[in-house]
Amino acid sequence: MEILPEPKARTISYGGSGFFRAGRLSGRLAGGGGGEGRGAVGLGGRIDRTWGVFVGDELSAGRASGIDTSVPHSARIWNYWLGGKDNYPVDQAAGDEYMAIFPGVVELARASRAFLARAVRYLAADAGIRQFLDIGTGLPTVDNTHEVAQRVAPESKIVYVDNDPLVLVHAQALLTGSAPGLTAYVEADLREPEEILKAAGQTLDFRQPVALMLMGILGHIATFDEARSIVTRLVDALPSGSYLAINDGTNVSGTAIDEAQQQYNEGGAVPYQLRTPEEIGRFFEGLELVEPGLVSLTRWRPEATPFGTPAEVDGYCAVGRKP
Ligand SMILES: C[S@@+](CC[C@H](N)C(=O)[O-])C[C@H]1O[C@@H](n2cnc3c(N)ncnc32)[C@H](O)[C@@H]1O
Repeated sequence: MEILPEPKARTISYGGSGFFRAGRLSGRLAGGGGGEGRGAVGLGGRIDRTWGVFVGDELSAGRASGIDTSVPHSARIWNYWLGGKDNYPVDQAAGDEYMAIFPGVVELARASRAFLARAVRYLAADAGIRQFLDIGTGLPTVDNTHEVAQRVAPESKIVYVDNDPLVLVHAQALLTGSAPGLTAYVEADLREPEEILKAAGQTLDFRQPVALMLMGILGHIATFDEARSIVTRLVDALPSGSYLAINDGTNVSGTAIDEAQQQYNEGGAVPYQLRTPEEIGRFFEGLELVEPGLVSLTRWRPEATPFGTPAEVDGYCAVGRKP
């Protein structure tokens, strides 16, 4: 096992698998909005090259207490819609309330995960990408990015980023990569892209192409202009031949999804802004869209099924290449 030197940044230790933490530190960990405070901070320990994550020296007992089960969290509600068990009554209630107004959200969540897997497979198998930066990882489920990528190319390196403490806990247990690849986890906030790049740079080589994945996360950024600025800052750091893959919720199907979203946004979880397909397309300005371009999640390179093409869902996606 090759052990990398400790990062220079201040460190906090965690037991078992270890992880980076970048950006803000204290504060609203429990609110789904990540921590507050400034500066890059690496969690204490070393990187285990096989498991691809930090191996810390001390178990952070307080870490678990960062998980607040009194307010619904995006990752856990998403997990509930995907049929997972890593959620709490407060998340189930928020998920049920959404479903009561817009039942299509379950199909939307599943179509979103299916798109993620198809996109990663395309990036690894057809585009030859071996480095992935997946921001807004969510709770582990089937076909996580590292599993799909490392099935195609075992040497693939994946850096996951999320700001939800429960995602960190599950990532420690489940997001284990396979040698010769590497799977690392950075606890950071998308609103601090420079911190993410700094931490991810300990695992990824930014002189080589990287696939930047922003799956179901940009809606958590309050305004379109801020979201676009974040995407631009991240893409600017990537070399030619890199890719951007995005999916996000839209509101093209009628008023029910707007109503459900408004209720969700008032329910205590970090709000999510539904965007127009045109806005999602603008995240890709300057990039070359891969066929079939910007489409509903089920229409991006769908796999053949005996039942024909699945119906469109209210979420759009695309994959673009940086020239
Ligand atoms: C809807 S889930 C999507 C999960 C996964 N990408 C997928 O497609 O299945 C959104 C994820 O983004 C994370 N997230 C939300 N706001 C974030 C932020 N500002 N910085 C980092 N992660 C964030 C949440 O914790 C959650 O795990």
